[in-house]
Amino acid sequence: MKKSFASLCLIFIAIALAASPRERLLMNYDWKFAFGHAADVEKDFNVGTSYFTYLAKAGYGDGAASPDFDDRTWRSLNLPHDWAVEAGFAENASHSHGYKAIGPGFPESSVGWYRKNFHLPVEDDDKRIFIEFDGVYRDARVWVNGFYCGNDPSGYTSFSFDVTEYLNFGGNNVIAVRVDASMEEGWFYEGAGIYRHVWLTKTNPLHVPQYGAFVTTEVSDNAAEVTARVKVLNKALEGKTFDIRNQIVAANGNVVASAVMENISLAAMFTDEFTMKFTVDNPMLWDLDTPNLYELHSHVIQNDAVVDTYRTTFGIRTIEWTPDRGFFLNGRHVKIKGSNNHQNHAGVGTAIPDGLHEWRLIQLKYMGNNAYRTAHYPPSPALLEAADRVGMLILNENRLMGTTDEILDHLRRLMIRDRNHPSVVLWSIGNEEWAIEGNERGARMAEYMQAYAKQFDTTRPINAAVSGTWGNGISSVVEVMGYNYLRHGSTDAHYAKYPWQASLGTEEGSTNTTRGIYFDDYDKQYLAAYDRDTPSGFFSIQHGWKHYADRDYLSGMCLWTGFDYRGEPTPFGFPSVVSYFGMMDLCGLPKDNVYYLKSWWTNDPVLHILPHWNWKGREGEPIDVWVYSNHDEVELFVNNRSQGRQKMERNGHLSWQVNYVPGTLRAVGYKNGKRVQVTTVETTGAPSGVALEPHRAELKGDFEDVSVVTVKIVDRKGRVVPDANHQVYFEVSGPAQIIGVGNGDPTSHEPCRFFDEVRTVSFSKWQQMAAFGVNISEAVMPEFFVADWQPAFSDGGLAPGSSSLPTLYRASLHLTENDLKGNLNWMFRSVGNNQSVYVNGHLVGENLDNNQRDFVFKLSGDVVRPGENIVTVVANPFVKVNPWDEVNTNPGAVQVIQAHEKWQRKTFNGLAQIIIQSTGKQGDVVISASSPGLTSVRYVIKTVKAPRRPFLQ
Ligand code: GAL
Repeated sequence: MKKSFASLCLIFIAIALAASPRERLLMNYDWKFAFGHAADVEKDFNVGTSYFTYLAKAGYGDGAASPDFDDRTWRSLNLPHDWAVEAGFAENASHSHGYKAIGPGFPESSVGWYRKNFHLPVEDDDKRIFIEFDGVYRDARVWVNGFYCGNDPSGYTSFSFDVTEYLNFGGNNVIAVRVDASMEEGWFYEGAGIYRHVWLTKTNPLHVPQYGAFVTTEVSDNAAEVTARVKVLNKALEGKTFDIRNQIVAANGNVVASAVMENISLAAMFTDEFTMKFTVDNPMLWDLDTPNLYELHSHVIQNDAVVDTYRTTFGIRTIEWTPDRGFFLNGRHVKIKGSNNHQNHAGVGTAIPDGLHEWRLIQLKYMGNNAYRTAHYPPSPALLEAADRVGMLILNENRLMGTTDEILDHLRRLMIRDRNHPSVVLWSIGNEEWAIEGNERGARMAEYMQAYAKQFDTTRPINAAVSGTWGNGISSVVEVMGYNYLRHGSTDAHYAKYPWQASLGTEEGSTNTTRGIYFDDYDKQYLAAYDRDTPSGFFSIQHGWKHYADRDYLSGMCLWTGFDYRGEPTPFGFPSVVSYFGMMDLCGLPKDNVYYLKSWWTNDPVLHILPHWNWKGREGEPIDVWVYSNHDEVELFVNNRSQGRQKMERNGHLSWQVNYVPGTLRAVGYKNGKRVQVTTVETTGAPSGVALEPHRAELKGDFEDVSVVTVKIVDRKGRVVPDANHQVYFEVSGPAQIIGVGNGDPTSHEPCRFFDEVRTVSFSKWQQMAAFGVNISEAVMPEFFVADWQPAFSDGGLAPGSSSLPTLYRASLHLTENDLKGNLNWMFRSVGNNQSVYVNGHLVGENLDNNQRDFVFKLSGDVVRPGENIVTVVANPFVKVNPWDEVNTNPGAVQVIQAHEKWQRKTFNGLAQIIIQSTGKQGDVVISASSPGLTSVRYVIKTVKAPRRPFLQ
């Protein structure tokens, strides 16, 4: 099999010359969206109602699943999209989902339809074309050009379809996706819609299939042995012979190792896996602070031409989970300092842009998090890519435990999708499966799933999170024990019983706090931000961490949670809509716990005082002052009077009780007796202005990059006023837009997104009459007598051979005063030839082009009015060529676009957040923020030229 040097050179040249035909195009742009209905077929665009429908005959997608469906009145949007975050709240909606008015009881807002038109060049007709969904919430049904592709019920598992045979090459194509978010999968906010990316991938019929490469590494001294298992699939109709060349490419672009396998043959439709081993000398290891990455380039070569190149990002690192000493990364002990998180952020809901995923990980790293548990479902690929880049360990969790093929298949798909990410260090097969976790069935299921999972990866162990009954059931068999909450039992007793088992706290610290609040207020549903054990027995963050920090056999713990999330507003219900568990609020703005963690989870010097010192009306009252710090001693001063110097206990905090007087709290930190840090908190002046602080003052002009902007209410000296709740209005000009606003108030019902409302107003009752002998200018007038006209279009078009005579069609259109405030467009579709169109007697379209199907008539206040309007079409109706032909008999509907209000949000305890996203070009983005009575602010962010990811028009 070995090649001569000369032929190797030739292959290199070939690789250099012929680019692989593989393309991966982001398919996020220019979709149409409208609500269907979960209970009313007619309102669900009559899908599945035809005599023969899509399950009866291939290509018979009807209603909104048909390529011919007229979706022009629908709203235009880009993905990712979460319609739940745009919805209002309702007290009878789900507590789990944060009382968003969707789900059971809300059939009109629980089904969303997405459609997109796209063009593929004729040159692509020898390729395979795949449409890949990173995640849709949930129960997606997909059609391409009316062909039913399939259904994926999961709200979290990625799925794809090879749609090649359904496509028009050199013509238009339509994809339609019905998304049904009626059912809940989790007990937390899950969003609704196509909330992750969609991709269109083109490959040669002979190619590496999606997730077809698996790279594992073993590190010894100064070298790594890399094993690449690469699948090739031959989707051609005949057998193929080819070579595979695998190259390992370092971050600087250098090829550091390569190997070739030659003369491989695959029969049509067959796939096979090819294993190659490489040595990488002096590998740059992937680690938390140096997340070095490599790529495997797998070239499939046929007749010296590259027909496919598949890239797999991986890292070289070692991991070890030990029962007695915890977790090791690259041979170094790393205590797991993790957090649990849901994919959910202020403003955008679950539709998190890639840049925001990365920003969130960076906030977690700031407080010392080195691990992220993807509670309780397969994460977005973009999150894992960001974790690989920033250096964050991922505990990757499956959604539902089970051992049938269907359920196991979700675990399989999660594992083969994610197993190359160096960030992924643990697979979790389930969380708190109460029906089984403590019993024999649970043990058997866990053992079975564990064995099943080994087919896909033996390099990471299997974990399950267990909420009690430790010592029995799942906890007795799982490779890495996951303790959910110390209140449930003794980890020491469990360890004594199962000394072979590695373990960690998969959830701890289910405490409830509100950012910027220091006195519980049950009426307003705010809870003080002091770290306390809860009345229901959950440990405080400090209480929990001390337990984990003190025991070497415990690998560490994951907080419940890093960020607040919508839903589960425990211990409250409506009107509270957001959880209180986060170390940060829904915006990622820190609560004080962040500084407790930072002081013991990082080596940065920390000296943080809580609460704020604006307690007008509480003068003379005792107030608890706490300090989080990693210094040896701290002295607290109130208006320069010492309140005493105290020794800091490891993993602890300090507290003083102080009678409130306005002025200054000052903490002085000492290390080895030396004063090393001073922090002050001052009583501020009255609110005076608005300030903006973007996390990045430069944005890439790539249509995707985001800047997370903190909005502050400040006093004259620029200090944040910690109890200021002011309505702030935002405007952005230049090449960026606001995509969401938030403020972290768990009880806020203000909108997170402002967008033009798009409605469809349909015509009622079309009637028709032969135009022969009728005075047209009279017949198109509203008052014309039409009682003797026939119902229109009842014959579904004229039979073959009929003569088409001029016909009048008439209908009424009911518009409200409110409709008239918007932009009205009649999205007209031809119902015949030689058409003229009238609205209330006004001619709006004359002698329309017979070769054109679709027209738009703008309906201004000059031609329409509130109440009843009369529209008339004069046309020679279409004649069918064959009796079974279908001709259009629907003259369309009116789209009403109502412009949105100005972007705005109240600050909560002095702060709010807006998220800005690039709209493509270079230039200055001017963000203005104003609040009545306060000085407004303008902030300029630069957008710089940056390549756009390849995308599908
Ligand atoms: C756990 C559960 C989490 C969350 C948390 C709230 O039992 O695993 O998803 O619900 O409780 O305290």
